Amino acid sequence: MGLKIRPIALADAASYRQCWDAVAKERRYLYWYEAPPLWEVRANLRRSLRKKTPMLVAVDGERVVGWAAVYRAGVPALSHGGDFLMFLLPEYRGKGLGTKLAAGVLKMSRGKFDMILFCVVRKNKPARELGRKMGFELCGEEKKSVKLAYGFDDLLIMQKQIRR
Ligand SMILES: CC(C)(COP(=O)(O)OP(=O)(O)OC[C@H]1O[C@@H](n2cnc3c(N)ncnc32)[C@H](O)[C@@H]1OP(=O)(O)O)[C@@H](O)C(=O)NCCC(=O)NCCS
Repeated sequence: MGLKIRPIALADAASYRQCWDAVAKERRYLYWYEAPPLWEVRANLRRSLRKKTPMLVAVDGERVVGWAAVYRAGVPALSHGGDFLMFLLPEYRGKGLGTKLAAGVLKMSRGKFDMILFCVVRKNKPARELGRKMGFELCGEEKKSVKLAYGFDDLLIMQKQIRR
C-alpha cells in the first residue's frame, strides 16, 4: 500500500480519530491527552467539510497516518486569521511527510486568511523547524503554559503572513 496525501472525507473519521488519539496519548506535542469521542470528531469533521476548512490527510492504504488543517478563529475580530495544526504517527515522522502535508494545506489556505498561527511547545524541535521551513516566524511565547508528560513547557507562537 502506498502513502498518499489527499483531502479528508467523512469516511476517514474513525481512522483520523485513532491517529489523533495515538499522538495525543504521547503527551508530548498536542493540547489533548486523548482524542475526543468519535461522535464529536465526526460532527466537527462534518462542520469543517461544510465550511471548506483546508484539511488534508496522509493515508497508508486506507489508514490515516497524518493530518493537517488550518482552522478559522470563531470570533469576528480574529476571523482573518487561521490556526495551523498537524500530526503524524511516530513511525511516519522524519521522512518529509510533514513538510508535504504542511505545504499542501498552506497552499489550500491561500486567499482565505491574512495570517496563520502555528503554536508549538519549545521542546518540539521538529515542529519548530517545520514551521521555520514553511515561513513562520516567532512572534511571542507563553511561559510554562503547557503541561505535558515531561512537565511544563513554553508555548511558542509562530506566525506567517499570507495575502488574502
Ligand atoms: C511536527 C511533525 C508534523 C513534522 O513532520 P515530519 O514529517 O516529522 O517532518 P519532516 O520530515 O517533513 O521534517 C521537517 C523539518 O523538521 C526538522 N526535523 C525533522 N525531524 C527532526 C528531528 N527528529 N529533530 C530535529 N529536527 C527535525 C528538519 O529541519 C526537517 O526539515 P529538513 O528535512 O528539510 O531539514 C511531526 O514530527 C509530528 O507529527 N510530530 C508530533 C505532532 C506534532 O508535533 N505536531 C505539531 C504541533 S501542532
